[in-house]
Amino acid sequence: MEVILLIASTVDGKIARNSSQFVNWTGKADKKYFVEQTKKAGVMIMGSKTYDTIGKPLPGRLNIVMTRDKSRQSDQDNLVFTDLSPALILEDLALRGYTSAALVGGATVNALFARDNLITQVHLTLVPKLFGSGLSIFAPPLELDLNLSFESSQDIEEGHLLLIYRVINP
Ligand SMILES: NC(=O)c1ccc[n+]([C@@H]2O[C@H](COP(=O)([O-])OP(=O)(O)OC[C@H]3O[C@@H](n4cnc5c(N)ncnc54)[C@H](OP(=O)(O)O)[C@@H]3O)[C@@H](O)[C@H]2O)c1
Repeated sequence: MEVILLIASTVDGKIARNSSQFVNWTGKADKKYFVEQTKKAGVMIMGSKTYDTIGKPLPGRLNIVMTRDKSRQSDQDNLVFTDLSPALILEDLALRGYTSAALVGGATVNALFARDNLITQVHLTLVPKLFGSGLSIFAPPLELDLNLSFESSQDIEEGHLLLIYRVINP
């Protein structure tokens, strides 16, 4: 199963100023890439805080939201709330015929997948901004030692660099 970490980061490595900030600080091209990639995978996996910043399931793909809050119940076909582990989520998706999934944040959920070494690709848009403080790509504490193999880079819009890497299996 390909797990594509799809992330927009400031040049100082921040993905949000705080847990409730909606990602509205990237350009049009990054948003378009996000839609393309999540639709191509057919499924996007996110944490409940990220889901709350979006506020609704995005159409045309399965939205999997990680939460431990049992009171969260889906009333829509393309929305699933789950407290399964990352590995079990992926196992279940594989059984349902998915071959790739987009991991779309936030920092907490990214760290859960990284800790279990489940991320196979990183698609990172480097946005020409500095936040100074805020959330990093992975919530601490997390110690990683993963090597990436560079695939491509592209200026998708006014200094927004889309960097694509493959995670080299240790
Ligand atoms: N720049 C980007 O590309 C990008 C991408 C995505 C998100 N973001 C930003 O990141 C911020 C949110 O990140 P975040 O780290 O605060 O939160 P998050 O990762 O989106 O969600 C954290 C939540 O996940 C649930 N969770 C944690 N561990 C779990 C487990 N083991 N099993 C099941 N559920 C678990 C908990 O929800 P419950 O409390 O409901 O149990 C926890 O509060 C937002 O500002 C968002 O806009 C940025």
